[in-house]
Amino acid sequence: MTGLRLNLGCGERHFEGYINVDKYGNPDVKQDLEIFPWPWEDNSVSEILLIHVLEHLGQNSNTYLNIFKEMYRICERGAKIQIIVPHHRHDFFFDDPTHVRVVTPMGLSLFSQRLNRKWIEEKAANSPLGLYLGVNFELIETYYKPSSHWFDLHPEAEVDVQFLLSESTYYNNLIEQIEMVLEVVKEDIN
Ligand SMILES: C[S@@+](CC[C@H](N)C(=O)[O-])C[C@H]1O[C@@H](n2cnc3c(N)ncnc32)[C@H](O)[C@@H]1O
Repeated sequence: MTGLRLNLGCGERHFEGYINVDKYGNPDVKQDLEIFPWPWEDNSVSEILLIHVLEHLGQNSNTYLNIFKEMYRICERGAKIQIIVPHHRHDFFFDDPTHVRVVTPMGLSLFSQRLNRKWIEEKAANSPLGLYLGVNFELIETYYKPSSHWFDLHPEAEVDVQFLLSESTYYNNLIEQIEMVLEVVKEDIN
């Protein structure tokens, strides 16, 4: 893939080979990501990074949904979107007053038309956002980064992810951040 690579909400971390974008500082492109349309052509982007950014965007649900519509518009088929957010039950999430939105793997899965259709068939109540918005993203990777508190409790090197997840439904501060990758699903237009 030869499309553009965007580092959205880059802050002071500008990456070589990426168009670094932020509403503050001196990025390559100064853009408020809550203002639309974004200044990139349809199907022109092959990779997007949102590293500790998405939780700062879209306090208003319509704005949040428009961000997904805009990412879908500018991304080419098969483009990858890497999303890293603080875990919503870690104090890091609450420490920053500009954190306005919880982002979870399940929340991102609502943008999958494949799952939307399955849930409709099963008469599940999950919002079929992929179908409603005309976007289609598959969550292809999810990594839960254990916190230092987890390793204090469980110093053994090997992390049992299922145990980590079940413990984190009862206790706070066990998962520091969630790292996820979305793949953009589009019809082959060739
Ligand atoms: C926690 S920092 C992360 C910076 C960088 N990605 C990193 O990993 O170091 C969040 C960044 O998102 C940017 N940001 C927040 N809201 C934004 C918006 N509406 N449009 C563009 N950038 C925004 C902030 O200016 C800030 O640089």
